[in-house]
Amino acid sequence: MIEFNNVSKKYDTADSYALKDININIEKGEFVFVVGSSGAGKSTFLKLMMREEVASSGSIIVDDYNLNKIRKRDIPKFRRKLGIVFQDFRLIPNMTVFDNVAFAMRVIGTKEKKIRRRVPYVLSLMGLNEKARKYPRELSGGEQQRVALARALANNAEIIIADEPTGNVDPQMSYEIVDMLMRLNEAGTTVIMVTHEHSLVRCFDKRVIILDKGNVVADGGTLIREAATSHINAASEISNEYVVPPDEDYSAYIPATEIDSAEPVDAGEVEVSQAAEPVEEASVSVQAEAEAAPAEAEAEAVKGGEN
Ligand SMILES: Nc1ncnc2c1ncn2[C@@H]1O[C@H](COP(=O)(O)OP(=O)(O)OP(=O)(O)O)[C@@H](O)[C@H]1O
Ligand SMILES: [Mg+2]
Repeated sequence: MIEFNNVSKKYDTADSYALKDININIEKGEFVFVVGSSGAGKSTFLKLMMREEVASSGSIIVDDYNLNKIRKRDIPKFRRKLGIVFQDFRLIPNMTVFDNVAFAMRVIGTKEKKIRRRVPYVLSLMGLNEKARKYPRELSGGEQQRVALARALANNAEIIIADEPTGNVDPQMSYEIVDMLMRLNEAGTTVIMVTHEHSLVRCFDKRVIILDKGNVVADGGTLIREAATSHINAASEISNEYVVPPDEDYSAYIPATEIDSAEPVDAGEVEVSQAAEPVEEASVSVQAEAEAAPAEAEAEAVKGGEN
């Protein structure tokens, strides 16, 4: 799904390479942590993947797009595959939570009717129904990041790209955010997440790519602890060797949490049950009940874990 072939990146104003001749293959449905010290090239790796930067050499393929050859006018369409989450949330301060999520849908021309159905649904997935009318400044860091995640989900992203999404939230919320990402992953979304938190990497036993000075020094199964120890500060905390074969059922590695029981039976019920929801959102939720199956592929997918 994502292929980096001999990719190097040198920024125009830089003296050295941010990434040097890297080869990485990420399959559809994988969950990948990317770790490494500051300046290692982690954000550059993500930016190349989302075509925010262009490789100096080598080829990058994401799904059916060759990012070396993609035409400018096709980039917005390509980016619709992606849900992007940043450490600093990047919410629009003068928009409510509802509108922050809706905005992502409006910019690609989604009909209001669908927006009114979809936004409450993705907010409910993130446990944010009651915050729809709030502004970002009225939310905690963890809540803001969950809004950002809801926004990333709004357009049914196939790939979630998250650059230190837990960097500004407390440890418990970090865990919950990653747990949320795991669930989305279980439902079929490919997730690539940069993190500095090695306790998370240890807690969730997934593929780990370690970058150091623009090089891939370890990837997945091979002696990751040893490699990590010499390249990243807190690496000794990575206590799990990566032993999951590529076709393993990853769901077995996801710790059960209460989010399971909070999962909506369907989008409609969740909305109706939220008394605080504004009238129009509550009413569209009834439509959601009727229309969920064809329109909410992801909704189905997220619930799919229970089927
Ligand atoms: N726009 C830019 N122009 C010039 N050099 C850049 C640019 N962005 C990044 N770099 C350089 O490229 C290298 C890799 O940067 P990158 O942001 O990918 O690191 P990182 O691993 O994400 O670090 P951090 O953990 O601090 O976020 C660094 O040496 C950095 O200074
Ligand atoms: Mg970075």
